[in-house]
Amino acid sequence: MTTATSEASGSSLGVGPVKFGDGPKTEREAALSGAGSREAAPEGGRRGSGLGWRSPHALTAVVCLALIAFGARSVDDLDLSSSDGLGYLLGLFGLAMMVLLLLYSVRKRVRWLRRAGSLRAWFEFHLVLGLLGPTIILYHSNFNLGSANATISLACVLAVSGSGFGGRFLYRRLHRSLAGERRSVNVIRRRARRTLEPLEHLLVANSTARRLLYDFEAAAIDEGSGLLRTLPAIWLRLRVRGIRRSVLGELAGQGEAELPPAQRGAVLSAYLADLSRAGELRLFEQLFALWHAIHVPLTIILFVSAAVHVVAVHLY
Ligand code: HEM
Repeated sequence: MTTATSEASGSSLGVGPVKFGDGPKTEREAALSGAGSREAAPEGGRRGSGLGWRSPHALTAVVCLALIAFGARSVDDLDLSSSDGLGYLLGLFGLAMMVLLLLYSVRKRVRWLRRAGSLRAWFEFHLVLGLLGPTIILYHSNFNLGSANATISLACVLAVSGSGFGGRFLYRRLHRSLAGERRSVNVIRRRARRTLEPLEHLLVANSTARRLLYDFEAAAIDEGSGLLRTLPAIWLRLRVRGIRRSVLGELAGQGEAELPPAQRGAVLSAYLADLSRAGELRLFEQLFALWHAIHVPLTIILFVSAAVHVVAVHLY
């Protein structure tokens, strides 16, 4: 196969697999030592990240599910009225919780509030109240749909809170911890390039192998592409074995004294695994942006409908 100029010099995206910078010895050695890919330990791991099942919001979710299951079965025995007594107070509490959870957004944006607690704690606060508030509102509504405005308010509450689970899933994919530290596609990409360095001189001499890796990298990290073109990134891991086998086949017989096939395999596995991870991360970034673009306007609709609901029940 002939060599395209863009391949030899990298690529028009600047992500070509041929030219790589100096990587820290430890990473290169890890790959070369045949320790295998770093698949099992993605940047930093999750221990102590606050993202596990024993976190306060996870426990709150369990409690809320139990409360909802109980409330839905015993709604008649509870005999709550939305317009007075405990039922009315629950409406106030639920709404107050949903207003308070917005403080997370304020804490996130206002620099001088840093002293008011860690972002992680505030995000926990957001999640816990985002679960408790809607659960309490369900009790306030007696697990029933009422007037049109009450129905719209309840639907918004459930839609926002429910969509929060999708956001939580994506957040977990994008962040190393609840503290808001984001994973970076560029960091993973740079690491992938450094990992491939031991094969660089062989790749320079073999345009087919270079093209295979270049195409894989372009599929993983095509910076200008939108969500639809990024979606196939979810299948990248399935292509890793095939690409690895083809590249090893292409390089067979060349420079084996310097770098035996087993070590080449380890280098390629680490490189391709990193690129797959970077591709998935890009996809999750785009999905998260889309989720944000839906979740935030839904929140606005929620509070507008809640205001209309409160005014309406006091006027009529
Ligand atoms: C009625 C309840 C809820 C309301 C009104 C609400 C509102 C909001 C708002 C306005 C944001 C944007 C924050 C920002 O970017 O500054 C947000 C972010 C978020 N919410 Fe909620 N939320 C609710 C419940 C939930 C629940 C139950 C979950 C998870 C189970 C959740 C998960 C998230 C996540 C993951 C983010 C993104 C955080 C970030 O990008 O920093 N939310 N929520």
